[in-house]
Amino acid sequence: MQFFPVYSLFDVEPVRGRGCHLYTADGRRWLDLYGGHGVISIGHAHPRWVSALVDQAQALPFYSNSVRNPLHAPLLAAFERLTGLSDYQLFLCNSGAEANENALKLASFYTGRRRVVAFEAGFHGRTSAALQATHNCAAKAPINGGMPVTYLPLNDAEAVAEALAAGDVAAVIVEGIQGIGGVHLPEPAFLQAVRRLCTEHDVPLVLDEVQSGFGRSGRFFAFEHAGIAPDLITMAKGMGNGFPVGGVLIHPRFEARPGLLGTTFGGNHLALAVVTAVLETLEQEGLMAQAEKTGRYLMDALADMEGVRAVRGRGLMIGIELDEAAAPLRKHLLYQHRIFTGSASDPNVLRLLPPLCMGLAEAQYFLDRFEQTLATRKTITA
Ligand SMILES: Cc1ncc(COP(=O)(O)O)c(C=O)c1O
Repeated sequence: MQFFPVYSLFDVEPVRGRGCHLYTADGRRWLDLYGGHGVISIGHAHPRWVSALVDQAQALPFYSNSVRNPLHAPLLAAFERLTGLSDYQLFLCNSGAEANENALKLASFYTGRRRVVAFEAGFHGRTSAALQATHNCAAKAPINGGMPVTYLPLNDAEAVAEALAAGDVAAVIVEGIQGIGGVHLPEPAFLQAVRRLCTEHDVPLVLDEVQSGFGRSGRFFAFEHAGIAPDLITMAKGMGNGFPVGGVLIHPRFEARPGLLGTTFGGNHLALAVVTAVLETLEQEGLMAQAEKTGRYLMDALADMEGVRAVRGRGLMIGIELDEAAAPLRKHLLYQHRIFTGSASDPNVLRLLPPLCMGLAEAQYFLDRFEQTLATRKTITA
């Protein structure tokens, strides 16, 4: 038997991780500026994360959502402290796509409508409704075509106003920062206008914080930079620091009833223990401030480099737009300098999503080697 070959592979086999480094079996160290698709938030194998997982595995790894659970209270308290959204409610699931699927479903229940407004270059996952809301994705199968979607240019508030005026929209979904599309930021004024329009038309605003959330942007959620409050907030990736978990934060206006949403594994004991440990670590180690500081340092230095056309991002979610294809440089960084970086659907963009514990020394280590790589790029691409 073999695995269904849907992933392209790099020729590296990490077997151990610590902080923002990976190690291969021969003891070689690799700097991880990608965090396995932006998943590693507090750091690879963080001791607190390991203890939370091991202690819970020894006590009770799983029971269903049909019993009381002593892990609920500490998790909700940590969420309240970090988000300030004390009147929102939490639904836990297993991935980012599933979080978006449930958020869109709640919006559709609420409005009784089907159409979703999404944005060009946006990505929301590979399950049915999440995939349909994703712009321009080659993974769309005929079976995914059921939900009508209007794709609009990001940062075009007038287009949103026009779309909502039609009166058939169930939800507006937007990423806190567009990730896979090439790291594009929704402007604060745009998010504020969309918030106003959604309120005016009573259409739920879904903020997809699957990639940009959990401290990555320097704030807990990226939308906080715009000072707005969404109706539904979806999360995954950094939430579990490698443990598969997703969630939706739900404004109190959405009514629940048993069976409305549900999943067997959502909110299992291991996930609850791990997410609480991630939240407490973000808080106690000041990782959001660190992401902001290291991100600023990186972005300032990158902006001055020859061959860099633009640098976009916030905190440790950074897109480097080059004046040529990024893939050869990415390979060079990986094999010559042992540095992991990410790609984007824009072929000229290199994406950085390092663990939030990355400091200035590691940032400088990358900058030196990246500048060297840019200087020799004519030979690399030849
Ligand atoms: C913004 C955003 N939303 C949703 C998803 C889907 O998450 P998952 O792969 O956990 O289903 C992703 C994955 O990259 C993402 O970047």
